[in-house]
This record gives sequence, structure tokens and C-alpha cells, in this order.
Amino acid sequence: MITKEDINWANETFAKIHHKLTLQVQRVGEKIPYIPDMQSGKYEEDMATTDPVWWTNGFWAGILWQMYHATGNEQYREVAEENEKRLDKAFDIFNGLHHDVGFMWLHTAVANYRLTQNERSKTRGHHAAQLLAGRYNPRGKYIRSWNRDRAGWVIIDSMLNIPLLYWAEKEIQDPRFRFIAEDHANKVMNNLVRPDGSVNHIVVFDPTNGDLLETPAGQGYASGSSWSRGQSWAIYGFALSYVHTHNQAYLDTAKKVAHYFISEVEKNKWIPLVDFRAPKDPVMIDTSAGMIAACGLLEIANHVPDLEKELYQDAAIKLLRTIEQRYSIWDERKDGLISGATGSYHEDRWTEVPIIYTDYYFVEGILRLLDKDFLIW
Ligand code: GLY
Repeated sequence: MITKEDINWANETFAKIHHKLTLQVQRVGEKIPYIPDMQSGKYEEDMATTDPVWWTNGFWAGILWQMYHATGNEQYREVAEENEKRLDKAFDIFNGLHHDVGFMWLHTAVANYRLTQNERSKTRGHHAAQLLAGRYNPRGKYIRSWNRDRAGWVIIDSMLNIPLLYWAEKEIQDPRFRFIAEDHANKVMNNLVRPDGSVNHIVVFDPTNGDLLETPAGQGYASGSSWSRGQSWAIYGFALSYVHTHNQAYLDTAKKVAHYFISEVEKNKWIPLVDFRAPKDPVMIDTSAGMIAACGLLEIANHVPDLEKELYQDAAIKLLRTIEQRYSIWDERKDGLISGATGSYHEDRWTEVPIIYTDYYFVEGILRLLDKDFLIW
């Protein structure tokens, strides 16, 4: 149950976020941020310059659109619009863009269009949706995730990209986009989600017929393990596919993965390990998994009977509050809101650091509790 005390906490946290972001927005300027510099604690790198096609390049704009929607502060809107224009370079480059065009343009162009009806933004959203639909494999009935020699690779993160297709279906009034999204969601549901509610990060299909070939470790510890951010992508992704299709199987899948996630994260006092099935040492955590899962759990709670809501809301509150208490960065001189995010199990360079997507889901989670969010997905 969400108590009055939880709402008071969320209100106080929202005020702190707003205060810090108004300073950060001035410091960051037109840059597209990713991870603050280790020494200065500030966003130094501009991803629009160093890696315009990088999958996280929409999240800063997503934060700004959510904050603009919640506060009406024009500064947020101006910087988000600037980020969107600078991402046009990624369309021009094209090489390197993959299924993450959903993350990139849902948070920039589509968010802009949803809130301001900007026609240029709508066109950008269409452009991105066509790119995503163009990755569909009609024999395998899935959207390929990555490029190069990976025609049969599908990763669980894709479930957060397909809402771009649900949006395009309504905007273009062409059901092909939904058919592709549904085929993909079904393929993921039947092949990446395991019977116990845990989820593979990656499944490789035969691109000529869709047969399952292998299940690599991906960003988790090993094949057969349980990368926590992958579990949270599944929780939120299937909840969103339910929102857009009302297919009960998607909600049931989101709930199944949620039950597994809750039982695992409770064991480490609501701080997700990077992988729930990794060796006991070293202990590595990933706060981003907790924030993504919290948003997914709050979405599930919107669609279940009253008696069931409490389970999902309680878990979401515990994740948000515990992670905020232990990993928030309220120091005004530093950029980023939440530390403790980890890119992947075997890659040292992004271990337990602030990463822009953690902040996005933190902001969305707090705004959800206060009914100040809008559905960006
Ligand atoms: N979508 C890539 C990741 O979650 O790290």
C-alpha cells in the first residue's frame, strides 16, 4: 500500500530532483549526457559528438520531458528540444542504429509530439518506427536486435523498444506496426522468459526459420544466469505490451517475472545484484534494475484487482526508497541523481556508477507515485 508517509517522501524527493535538475540543466547545456566524469563528478562527455547512435541518447531528454510535464518549466522543454534536433545526426549516420531506436526517439521526438503536437517531431517518430519495423524477420517472427553478423539475435531489452510501434500504429493508422510488435512480444514471451519467471538476456534464433539455437550470457554472468536489468526490462516491457494490446498473456508474463524478481531482490534487502545467479563473490549491484522494475511494478498495479495491488506497490516503494536512501547524489556540485548502476557483469568500466537511464526511471517512478508522470512508452 502507498501510505501518506510514502507520498510525503515522494513529494520531498520530487522537490530535491527539481532543484538539482534546474542547476544540472544549465551546466549540461546542449550536451547529451551518459555517465559523469569520475574525477569531476560532472557530465563532461557529449554523446551527440562522441557516439551519436548510442542507445542511451534519449534518456536525458526523457527526464526533461517528464519534468516539463510535471512542472511546466520552459528550461526543461528547450533543452529537450535541442537534444532531439542534435539526434538527427544519428539518422544521418544510420550505421550503428539498431533496435534501440525505440529508447532513442520515444524519449525525444515522440515525447515532444505527445506533449506539444510538434509535427516535425511526429515525423522523426515515424522515421524511427519505420527503422524498427524494417528489422522484422517474417520467417522468424521477431525483430532483430543488433547489427553485424547477428541476424538471429534477440535481447530482452527489446520489449522497451516496441512501444514505438504501438505508437506508430495509432498515429499512422496502419496495423502492420502492431502486428510486428505482437509477433515479437510473443516470440520473446515464448523463448526468452523461462518457466520459473527468470529471463534470458539473449536468445539466438535461426534467421531462416526462427528455431532457437543458443542462449548466450550477454550482460549477465553466464548462459542460464539471471541478469537483473534483463529481468526488469521484462517486467516493464510486458506490462507495456499489455497496456497497448490488452492481451492478458502479456500481463500474466509481467507478473510472473515480477514475482521472481521480488523474491530475489528481497534477499539483498531491495538492492538488486547485477545477476541473481552469479557466484556470491564479488558482490556487485545494479540500481538501474531496481528503478526500472519499480516503474514496471507500478504499471502492473494499475491493471490488477485491488487485493493484488499491494504486492506490486509495496515492492516498488521498497525499491525506490531503499535505493534513494543509499545511492542518491544530492550534492549540487555533482551531476547525476542515483549511483550504483552497472553496465554489465563482466565489463569493469561501468561498475556501480551513476548512469543516465537509472536517473530516468527514478524520476519516472517518483512522478508515478505523485500522478505527475505521462506515459512516454
Ligand atoms: N539495453 C542495454 C542495457 O540494458 O544495458
